[in-house]
This record gives sequence, structure tokens and C-alpha cells, in this order.
Amino acid sequence: MRTIDWVDGAIEIIDQTALPGEVRMLRLATVAELVAAIRSLAVRGAPALGVAGAFGVALAARQFAGDERALADAVQLVERARPTAVNLGRGAQRAAARLAAGPEAVLAEACAVRDEEIAASAAMATLGADLMVELCGPRPRVLTHCNTGGLAAVTGGTALGVVTELHRRGALAGVIASETRPLLQGARLTAWELREAGIEFRVAVDSAGPFLLARGEADAVILGADRICANGDVVNKVGSYAHALGARRAGLPFVVVAPESTVDPQTPDGAAVEIEDRGAAEVTGYAAAVNPAFDVTPHDLVTAIVTDRRVIRLDRGEKL
Ligand code: MRU
Repeated sequence: MRTIDWVDGAIEIIDQTALPGEVRMLRLATVAELVAAIRSLAVRGAPALGVAGAFGVALAARQFAGDERALADAVQLVERARPTAVNLGRGAQRAAARLAAGPEAVLAEACAVRDEEIAASAAMATLGADLMVELCGPRPRVLTHCNTGGLAAVTGGTALGVVTELHRRGALAGVIASETRPLLQGARLTAWELREAGIEFRVAVDSAGPFLLARGEADAVILGADRICANGDVVNKVGSYAHALGARRAGLPFVVVAPESTVDPQTPDGAAVEIEDRGAAEVTGYAAAVNPAFDVTPHDLVTAIVTDRRVIRLDRGEKL
């Protein structure tokens, strides 16, 4: 099943806010509906957001045909629906570059973005599984954070795609899914995907991760990215940095799996990235709160970055 697709003139997504209780499809026929779905995390995860951005412009091209001003505003609304994952703006801009050629050309470009993400997931699964065996031995036990499976892409996924590939090869000895407060992408979504795939796993509270690594309960941390900066800094779901520190302290690899569409050479380092602040309500309704949705893992804590084309060994001084 595809997390996001173009079906009969509109976008169809799996509504990730309803999981794991219900597998509900949402049909998004207007730009406003898509932007609301992106903001509520009904569709989420960097590669899926790239596809959403591109399909969003395809929607806009139909909805606002002939009204240049309204069309430009709609494209901007899509691009800026969330700030941190580079894929969203990139996907939207790629499709928008075809606007002069008409709505069908825009849709063709958006479908190409979708198809490239599907191919990238497959390539990362192979490259990443090979690397994990090289780094950890024949049957790695992994700790993962947030949700990086098919739900976060179109099919397959990034880090969780690697985990699934290890399982397929009979080369996976265990998975710990970090629950990922406050919206529980790990406990709700990764757990759901692992269960569907028949892969055994345990969920841990986020703050247990570094201790579990120190106690030898995993051989590596493997997770995704929303943006990889020119210097190798990795922007990903808040909590990733703590896992990187835990991995470094325990002497374990910290492997980031993300498509080339998430590598952002225009952004020098993590300090230059806008970290989405999702407001206090998601954390607590009754006290002031600070709720950054992402954090930055400094490049010197990253062992390797696996994309669909390359394995970059930052631990050996290789550059992006
Ligand atoms: O806020 P979210 O759920 O969109 O955050 C998603 C993540 O941080 C993922 O780890 C990242 O996008 C990689 S997805 C393959």
C-alpha cells in the first residue's frame, strides 16, 4: 500500500493520525486540505512530505488555473506548510518549475518525485543492510527513533526499510523502537509497521535509549533525517541527538539513512535550519512548555550516512 498517491484527480493518503487504531484513507482535493493534513501530521516523514509538496503543486495547478496570483500563493502555502524537512519545499519547487507547461506536466513531474522516492527506498535498503552487517556483524540488534518506514516515504522507507531488509535476509536479531514523545511516531507508527511486517520488537521510552545502549541491548542506532546539512549535521526528530550521544558513549555506530532528496548542500550546518516549534499543546495542556519537533546531531557523532547512491563514512573523514 502506498502512503501517498495521486488517484483520480486528487491526493490520497493514509491518515497517520488515526493509526494504529484505524487504517483510514483521506482524499485531499484542495490545497487547503493538503496543507491541513501536512500540519496535523496526517502525512509526515521527509520523503512523503517531498511527494506531498509535489502533488500539492499539481493540485494547485488545477485549482487555480488561470489565476497566476492565487496559484503562486498556493504554491508558497504548500512549500511552507512545515519548515524543517527540506523535501517538502524541494518537491513543491520541482513541480512548480513545470507550471508554465501546464497542469499535466506538473502532475507528471510530481509522479516522477513519487517514483524516485520509491526507487530510493529500495536502494537504501540494500546499501544500508550491507553497511549494518559490516559495522555490527551478521545479525545486528538495532535501536531506532521516530518513524522511518513506508509511512514516512511512499513504500519501503529509510532506516526502517533497512531494518525490514535485514529481517528479510534473516539477519536481524532485535529491534528497540524509541516511543518518540510527544506524538509517539515510534510507539504508534513504527510499532504498527513492524507488527504488520511480522518483525519482533520492543518499545522503549525515549529517555531509556542511552541507558539501553550502555547496557548492551543494541549494536547500533539507525534512524532517518529531515535534512542533512553540507557539513554532515543531521536534523531529525527531537531525541535523535540524545541517542547519538548515547551511541558515542557506548562506542556504537550511529547510522543515518536518508535519500539524496534530503541532503541539502545549500544549508551549511544545523544552526542554519529552522527547527519547527509545534507549540505547547502537544506536550501539556496545563503548563508552559517548549516543544521543538526536531534536533540537530553534530556530524562528529555520525558514523555513516547512507543515501540511495552513496555510503559516506564520516567516521573516516569522508565529506558529503
Ligand atoms: O514530525 P515528523 O513525524 O514528520 O518527523 C519525521 C522524522 O523526524 C523522520 O525521522 C524523518 O522524516 C525521516 S523519515 C524517513
